[in-house]
Amino acid sequence: MTEKRKFHAVRGVRDILPPDTSLWNWFEATARDVLEIFNFREIRVPVLEETELFARSVGAETDIVSKEMYSFETHDLPDLAIARSDILLRDPSVEHPSSISDYQDRLRVLYAALQHSFLTGAAPRTPQNQHAINHLGALERAVKELTLRLSVESRLVPGSQVPPEPNASRLRNELKGLVHDVHYALSQIRLGDVITLRPEATASVVRAYIEHGMQMLPGLVKLYYAGPMFRRERPQKGRYRQFYQIGAEVLGQTDHPAIDAELIEMLTVLLERCKLENWTLLVNSIGDTNCRPAYVALLREELQKVKDQLGPDSQRRIETNPLRVLDSKLPEEQPIIAKLPMISDHLCEPCREHFAELRRQLDLRSIPYKVEPRLVRGLDYYMRTTFEITSPHLGAQNALAGGGRYDGLSEMLGGPPAKGIGFALGQDRFIEVIQTAGRIDATRALDAFIVWMGAAAYPAAVRLARRLRQEGLCVEVPAEEPKLRKALGLAERLGARFAVIIGENEVQSGEFTVKRFADGEQRKLAEAEVAAFVKAPAQAARESESKSEPAD
Ligand code: HAM
Repeated sequence: MTEKRKFHAVRGVRDILPPDTSLWNWFEATARDVLEIFNFREIRVPVLEETELFARSVGAETDIVSKEMYSFETHDLPDLAIARSDILLRDPSVEHPSSISDYQDRLRVLYAALQHSFLTGAAPRTPQNQHAINHLGALERAVKELTLRLSVESRLVPGSQVPPEPNASRLRNELKGLVHDVHYALSQIRLGDVITLRPEATASVVRAYIEHGMQMLPGLVKLYYAGPMFRRERPQKGRYRQFYQIGAEVLGQTDHPAIDAELIEMLTVLLERCKLENWTLLVNSIGDTNCRPAYVALLREELQKVKDQLGPDSQRRIETNPLRVLDSKLPEEQPIIAKLPMISDHLCEPCREHFAELRRQLDLRSIPYKVEPRLVRGLDYYMRTTFEITSPHLGAQNALAGGGRYDGLSEMLGGPPAKGIGFALGQDRFIEVIQTAGRIDATRALDAFIVWMGAAAYPAAVRLARRLRQEGLCVEVPAEEPKLRKALGLAERLGARFAVIIGENEVQSGEFTVKRFADGEQRKLAEAEVAAFVKAPAQAARESESKSEPAD
């Protein structure tokens, strides 16, 4: 019998439940409206992409690509995959010496099957696969030879399957080395494409831009997307492994800072619609391929001087990505970072002018901002403008949205020359701050609960429910005949605004009893009059609404 067990959502991912989903839907609809009035149109890109797409665009050395992606092989060779896992699970160097011949047999069969799948094209015919399969062949021969030596040398000890010491230890060590190399060779073999659950969507949008020849479209290509992203980060408040972004990208032939400023303006309009006031816009320029390399070299040099005072992550980044040291959150590194050279002092003239014009464009739109020279962002495709919107309500993970310019990304992905800029906002975090501010009520109220009593009342209840729903009202009709008091209690607990009571008397008289919970007012109304009464706001409800104006 299978064990009974309860299942939970996996670590770092969560269910979003009603009534919160109403606010999520309100937010999505509001964001879509704002994006569309700025002339952005939706693009739906897949949740799965080739891993290589993210490695090339976001950057192989970034945290996202090197540590946080959910990647897996996709192929149609299940038997081969099982045989491969089987070999990976075995280690004959620690088992009884007789297990080596079984290991060698399995390795021989696996090698032959891999070679066949490679030659027929069932497994990708890449140079990497060719090289790894050849390597595996050589290892298989070496294991065979070792098996033979083991059996010859074992005969030196009559009745034993183990050679005399020290030969036995030497052979075991040799076998250990071979098994290690077999694991490595197998790790290099791809039975199919390696794909990744998208950690972000800019790479996909640029891939789609290139794939569909969108550079031929007139004017700027302005696209937006909404959906889940996946990063294997350490879960904490405001940081999830499946989280939701709404993002916008502008691609085209111009990199005018007015585009950057208008994109930011769009975000501020959305913040306004969400009735959020307490936010900060941080902007920076991280230079371009002309001026950044010299700055990075200088930064690396300066970081080397203070290496011993930095934590292991920053020490590693001195080599891999020195810019990322600048946005370290470790308190003990802050005084050191404060003394490092700043990119703003090392921008080339065109980048300096671009950044100055961006600031003028923001001023023109009366958008308040703070220049943050340490805002480098965690993705490699950025150049020039970077920006973030932060909220004090969010704690450590305080970025509501982030973005920047990525001119040249299209070329890097094999596409036509294109300039690009975009942002993504974290929907989970927006919802959190909207809830904290408490100025948006998106809950969908239950307008009417129909209490019917007696078989003759049920058809009247169904007819009334249909009529009210045609008027756009939210209606609940119990499937089974309820008890009046219980039903009224349930209606109140469900938050119903009205109860409509239909008993046999009401069916006969053609007038239903309609009760408004807000002020207890009760009326006898004909079927055709109920909707108007339910739609009219109650005096008491109006008064209580005008009193509640919570603060941000
Ligand atoms: P990002 O800064 O990595 O940029 O993510 C954008 C936003 O997504 C963050 O500001 C945050 O609100 C939210 N976010 C990121 N990771 C998590 C997480 N683990 N849990 C909850 N929310 C999270 C990008 O993704 C770029 N593609 C933005 C972009 C578009 N740049 C140019 N175009």
